[in-house]
Amino acid sequence: MFEVDHFIPLEYNNSIDQGSFSWSAPSNIALVKYWGKKENQIPANPSVSFTLNNCKTITTLAFAKRQNDGNFSFDLLFEGKSKEDFKPKIQKFLERVERYLPFLKDYHFTIDTQNTFPHSSGIASSASGMAALAMNFMSLEKKLNPAMTDDYFYSKASFLARLGSGSACRSVKGQVVVWGSQANIKGSSDLYGVEYPYTIHSVFKNYQDTILLVDKGEKQVSSTVGHDLMHNHPFAETRFAQAHTNLDQLITIFESGNLEEFIKIVESEALTLHAMMMTSLPYFILMKPNTLQIINAIWKFRNETKIPICFTLDAGANVHVLYPNEYKEKVLQFITAELVGYCQNGQYLCDEIGNGALLS
Ligand code: PMV
Repeated sequence: MFEVDHFIPLEYNNSIDQGSFSWSAPSNIALVKYWGKKENQIPANPSVSFTLNNCKTITTLAFAKRQNDGNFSFDLLFEGKSKEDFKPKIQKFLERVERYLPFLKDYHFTIDTQNTFPHSSGIASSASGMAALAMNFMSLEKKLNPAMTDDYFYSKASFLARLGSGSACRSVKGQVVVWGSQANIKGSSDLYGVEYPYTIHSVFKNYQDTILLVDKGEKQVSSTVGHDLMHNHPFAETRFAQAHTNLDQLITIFESGNLEEFIKIVESEALTLHAMMMTSLPYFILMKPNTLQIINAIWKFRNETKIPICFTLDAGANVHVLYPNEYKEKVLQFITAELVGYCQNGQYLCDEIGNGALLS
């Protein structure tokens, strides 16, 4: 296990003047939710997620050596076009990670980024985006220190991604990733995500996630503000303890493939996340009427067909429908017949569990 100090590099023994890398990183969907944090993006409770496969950010990082003038120097392109309004977020990220990547001011960077999912779909690109950028910076650091191990490379990439956006640290690896120290999960850390280390039943192989786009508008309350409202929240301590218990229970469930128990935890986690929002001060609601319509339709379908589908939610109105691959055809039929009407412009995205970031 790595401590923070391990990520501060000693002197580099190599140098490189220019070049470029291109990494893709996927989004992820949490089963046990991260909601609430301490300083420096340390989570208040452990979380676990499925890494996705199709919803990805692809980022090319070109770098050229320059005279270090004490500032960061970078251009930011989104889908090939300059995107000034994304720059402050990147500037802040560079400031946060500079201590761990001391070469940053020695280069001019061109960061060219694109998503495989529609820009205004309401799918957050911060997890995949920060993970893809962190992978690129690690590729550059590996050029400066070729002796770096793979374990260090991926752990530090996740560590850096976390400093950009908490849940991004779960987008580096697949297929099931744990972030946050949990007594019964070997190697788990608050500092970075780790691959789930125990047995996973074959029912979870190619597990499907169909994302129903209920509302593509800008969220009224950002997740930064939402996390913050967990300080002094009346139910915070109970909630944090519950996340530990749920993760414990998932260890047995992942092994046995007991989907009935899996569904109970996943849906309870989603509703608890939103219950925390509704019981914050100030309180807020991110679900929309159609979110509830979809949840009720899923419950009815599950009752009637005994097909083990369930829902989860992230910090927004969209619904992730999770189900085993073997029911794909039947579930997609149900979605197109009964749920697309609740989606904005009938839009939904088909995704499934995936393997994490890839160098192209
Ligand atoms: O990574 P952030 O700060 O955007 O927080 C995301 C939190 C949830 O998506 C609601 C839950 C999670 O664990 O991903």
